Amino acid sequence: METTFVLLKPSCVQRQLIGEVLNRFERRGLRISGMKMMQLSDEILREHYAHLVDRPFFPSLAASMQASPVVALAISGVDAVQVVRTMTGVTNGREAAPGTIRGDYSMSNQQNIVHASDSTSNAAIELARFFRPEEIFDYTSGMQGYIYGEGECK
Ligand code: TYD
Repeated sequence: METTFVLLKPSCVQRQLIGEVLNRFERRGLRISGMKMMQLSDEILREHYAHLVDRPFFPSLAASMQASPVVALAISGVDAVQVVRTMTGVTNGREAAPGTIRGDYSMSNQQNIVHASDSTSNAAIELARFFRPEEIFDYTSGMQGYIYGEGECK
């Protein structure tokens, strides 16, 4: 089992798509192991997008990420990082494949609905940035035996 980090951005919250996007993860068989609404501070935003702070679009990205609260999620499953990243689609919603979250709900390179960790190492860093350890819950889904085949759930 792996746990990944997802942020439902203001473009998701403002468009009242929280339930719809959450539903996709749950229907896939992924387990929600942490969830909270929060307003992003300048500090956490600069840390989260440290690789982009020098880019010309950073001020506009920061404004878009602080336009309303966001929902932080810890999502667990076998190979969860890659599965969720594939469900998210490429950065630019106009280029994202139909069937992906961005491909179904976004027309933008910036207002692209979700953030999802791009590697297991970044998932660990991002989960620790947004959640205290006791805010992430390790429990077994009652449907686990029907979500995974025998021996698959490592
Ligand atoms: P990035 O980490 O490159 O992509 P992803 O979210 O797919 O992992 O970029 C982070 C966010 O920065 C992206 O979701 C939206 C924003 N962004 C822009 O606003 N303009 C841009 O040109 C790029 C590349 C990203």
